[in-house]
Amino acid sequence: PVPGVPDYFFRMRPSYSNASVRKISPSVVGPEHFVKIRLLGKGDVGKVYLVRRKHSKVLYAMKVLSKAEMLQARETAGLLTEHETLSASNHPFLVTMYHSFQTARNIYFCLEYCVGGEFFRALQSRPGRCLREDEVRFYVAEVVLALEYLHMNGYIYRDLKPENILLHATGHIKLTDFDLSKKAVDGVYQTSSPPPTPSLTTQHHRRSLLGSWVAATPAEQPDTDTFVRGYRCSSFVGTEEYLAPEIIEGAGHTAAVDWWTVGVLAYELLYGRTPFKGKNRNATFTNILQQEVEFPVTATTPPVSNAAKGLMRRLLAKNETKRLGFRHGAMEIKSHAWFKPIAWPLLRNMTPPLVP
Ligand code: ADE
Repeated sequence: PVPGVPDYFFRMRPSYSNASVRKISPSVVGPEHFVKIRLLGKGDVGKVYLVRRKHSKVLYAMKVLSKAEMLQARETAGLLTEHETLSASNHPFLVTMYHSFQTARNIYFCLEYCVGGEFFRALQSRPGRCLREDEVRFYVAEVVLALEYLHMNGYIYRDLKPENILLHATGHIKLTDFDLSKKAVDGVYQTSSPPPTPSLTTQHHRRSLLGSWVAATPAEQPDTDTFVRGYRCSSFVGTEEYLAPEIIEGAGHTAAVDWWTVGVLAYELLYGRTPFKGKNRNATFTNILQQEVEFPVTATTPPVSNAAKGLMRRLLAKNETKRLGFRHGAMEIKSHAWFKPIAWPLLRNMTPPLVP
């Protein structure tokens, strides 16, 4: 039994809970209502399984987080932010969380299943690992809308990369993995010391959600953990290639970090590689901080329009105050010339280029 876990957060199954929890916790959904089909993916501390709900036969992606592993890896803050962001969100381009519950050992997030899997994989099957410019425009536009929604709700996503973009059966994108997301205070996530003051909502969750279980864990890590936890843990390229200069400098950052990553994403989708990749981590960081973005002309990559290059230059402005989106958010990006062909309100009803 885990003491102090209130019912209204993760519902505790009677069979796993102690009597006092059971009395106030008539549970609805639990792990026994699902049949595990196969492993979909593995993260730092959790695994995602394809599962089928027994009574409805509906498929879900079940994220299973081991409490012991989370405590060992000091990952509890990520769990809370992910749960908070998912609970607070309802948008066609963000993965939906249908249920969350826990047993004595694990925490479960029952998520919308995206049959197309990681966008990263779809990309790998394309020649040169890049897409046509009109295709890139479509996906980047969907990402812009997803980020706009998160920002409007006060969250900074901070972890955009092709591995965190899933493809739904309809071919539309769904952002996932919100454990690095942050509730911003006045739009700014301050990372320098003193440590960040969580927003009211965050404080409330810290205290109440996982109760003494989280309270007993070490205090939240300084924000340098973005570096530590942000690395892609498998053989893929590191997330460090997506880090904005102000995060590397550690001087505090705003929602503009997400617009920087949109620039990196657009570049990677168009050119098949990220713009500042160096031989090692330090070289990459130096490039991010000092090197201006270059647009190579090679036989293998199709020509890229000046409008696209212009947008990427504006998104990859080293100085965040000069970056597109810094002042007026997504609106500045949506009104850029490169997005002229995009009918923003109709995007979710359009047929995407890569339907799984
Ligand atoms: N991998 C991680 N999350 C997933 C999801 N929701 N659907 C499909 N594959 C996934």
